[in-house]
Amino acid sequence: MTKQSSAADVNDRQQDVRYFPAQQLHECAVVILKALGTPSDEAAIVAESLVSAHLAGHDSHGLIRLPEYASFVERGLVNPAARPAVSTTGAAVAVDGNQAWGQVAMRLATDHIATTAETFGVSGATARNCGHVGRIGEYAERLAGAGLIGLIICNADPTVAPMGGRERRLGTNPIAIGVPNEREPVILDFASSAVAEGKLRIARATGRAIPPGLIQDEHGHPSTNATDFYDGGALLPFGGHKGYGLSVMIELIAGALSGNHPSCLPSYKGGNGVVAIAIRPSAFNSYEAFLDDVSRAATLVRGTPPLQADSPVLLPGDPEHAMRIRRGGQGIPIEQQIWASIQALADQLGVQLPD
Ligand SMILES: NC(=O)c1ccc[n+]([C@@H]2O[C@H](COP(=O)([O-])OP(=O)(O)OC[C@H]3O[C@@H](n4cnc5c(N)ncnc54)[C@H](O)[C@@H]3O)[C@@H](O)[C@H]2O)c1
Repeated sequence: MTKQSSAADVNDRQQDVRYFPAQQLHECAVVILKALGTPSDEAAIVAESLVSAHLAGHDSHGLIRLPEYASFVERGLVNPAARPAVSTTGAAVAVDGNQAWGQVAMRLATDHIATTAETFGVSGATARNCGHVGRIGEYAERLAGAGLIGLIICNADPTVAPMGGRERRLGTNPIAIGVPNEREPVILDFASSAVAEGKLRIARATGRAIPPGLIQDEHGHPSTNATDFYDGGALLPFGGHKGYGLSVMIELIAGALSGNHPSCLPSYKGGNGVVAIAIRPSAFNSYEAFLDDVSRAATLVRGTPPLQADSPVLLPGDPEHAMRIRRGGQGIPIEQQIWASIQALADQLGVQLPD
């Protein structure tokens, strides 16, 4: 089985969409998050994260999440006014989210390991007891922007069937790796499931069929109907035993080390248990020599003669970078059904969205 979808092909549909400037979506998200009880500074961090997911082309991690986030608050899974706490032992950083928004806990964790890696060369953080942390490539990009190599893994609610299994026992367990470069950093960021669950959410909302190989129904039969997943089916790991094995290791490390627990255990605390590692290249090599190697290798890989003349070889992170430029100019397309759900949430909270 191969991964079937990428940011560009899944999200870029022309029908029934309205285009918004990033700033307007940011303001809309802030209004809703504040109405849910989030302090202004934290609302700005969460809104920035949601909008940056749209700009990167990953609409599954954008404002579509707000109705779900509101339900987290309603069910007591997230305390929007909470402040995460951090404790450090040498280069080890442990963030207790105190049930705050995941993006807020991860901003704290990322910035701490960026600073601590300056002292120790390598620094690692865990984060637990927080909401959904969003698109984890964001944290790899933040570390790469500070000249650091980053590795982020997290577990998630059990939605994925182990290879050959009938039931959900693993999360979608994404991994992100970022490497600084002379120009744009190289950023790999994907779920270890064949598709991120948020993309099924969009397929269900818009009634589109999904490619084969992504999910099975409640009886373990292959399905191309996203609704079958929500009716008791399961996501599948990507890449057969390789994606499955990666998912298991992420579940064990991010779940058990963070104290959020593997998601198949009754002790699982919900949301994402995260492990993030920052590496300062100059602790191991001259930074200039490192960047020179990365940049020359990146140029050579990108310059590989393409199989098809109109399809150049890309590096991980290139599709998101291209989408940022495109959407920064033309605006961010939001499907009508999805915008209606955001508008309905605003109405329910009694707030006016900025026009
Ligand atoms: N917080 C959570 O619980 C959670 C769980 C799962 C996924 N996610 C997020 O969901 C998002 C989407 O995940 P996904 O699995 O759908 O991603 P995806 O399948 O779209 O893959 C994206 C990755 O593949 C690279 N890529 C795509 N096309 C490429 C090409 N032609 N050449 C080179 N590289 C290419 C991209 O640059 C990016 O690194 C990610 O940002 C992930 O962090 C979050």
